[in-house]
Amino acid sequence: MKDIIASINELKTRKNALILAHNYQPVEIQDLADYRGDSLQLAMLSARLDNPLIVFCGVRFMAETAAILNPKTKVLLPVQDAGCPMADMITGAQLREFKRSHPGSTVVCYVNSTVEVKAESDICCTSSNAVKVIESVPLDHTVLFVPDRNLGSWAAKQTGRKVITWDGYCPIHQWGFTTEDIVNMRAKYPEHKLLAHPECDPEIVDQADEVMSTGGMMNYAKTHDKMIIATETGLTNYLQHIYPQKSIVTLSPKAICPDMKKISLEDVLAALEQEQYQIQVPEDIATKAKISIDRMLELS
Ligand code: 13P
Ligand code: SF4
Repeated sequence: MKDIIASINELKTRKNALILAHNYQPVEIQDLADYRGDSLQLAMLSARLDNPLIVFCGVRFMAETAAILNPKTKVLLPVQDAGCPMADMITGAQLREFKRSHPGSTVVCYVNSTVEVKAESDICCTSSNAVKVIESVPLDHTVLFVPDRNLGSWAAKQTGRKVITWDGYCPIHQWGFTTEDIVNMRAKYPEHKLLAHPECDPEIVDQADEVMSTGGMMNYAKTHDKMIIATETGLTNYLQHIYPQKSIVTLSPKAICPDMKKISLEDVLAALEQEQYQIQVPEDIATKAKISIDRMLELS
């Protein structure tokens, strides 16, 4: 492992490359990364980097967002099929039909979406700014929220706005946690606060002490010692790794996103050596998608 890490670091310096990792990545990938973060933090960072090469350790929609925001940089996704099942739950054609059946609405797309869907949307959002984004929509407009029904309905509740959600969901957050898990973990850890990601089922979110993005959870852990976490286990694993003295536990060990676990150190090395796999978004779609992402960034 030491040899691989040394080779990665040597190539990274030689090529003036940066490694970005999402908060769900395996510990060894996060340890290696130059920057870690949630979807919004990584998107904002990608927009202002001037390195010629970015190795994006996350899933496809995240690397695509980086490539759209920074077209001069070569963005690499080390494993081609690291995707997000929720992002694939609505196509551009389905969104066009959804818009036709609700004329005069404003489309808010979660960043966990394809570039075609972003290109068809008015404004993008992430889990950390969905409320702010919905609040920015004119009061007389209905919001069409795609693809995540759970984030959409949670943000609707926070804002009191009329939001019609697409019926998409993250299988990991939807099925990974049960109310029984909450009863058991609260009994075992009575002093811990329960933090939930808004992609979780409303039954889980409604019982949480705090609802936040993965970046919000990372910040929370800086100043708190006891927490139960309802999100993908990569985040909890990394928090346990950096704060071994704290009591940070997952609500359920079942919540593992297989796509977030596809990239290994060997893949990162191969990505740097071969400059693979470059994210390429057709220019016309990238230009349209960038409008919805830029609108979000202006609010962030
Ligand atoms: P965050 O933006 O909170 O990091 O969430 C990304 C994601 O894919 C959650 O499943
Ligand atoms: Fe997509 Fe869910 Fe995996 Fe996040 S955890 S990348 S939403 S499948």
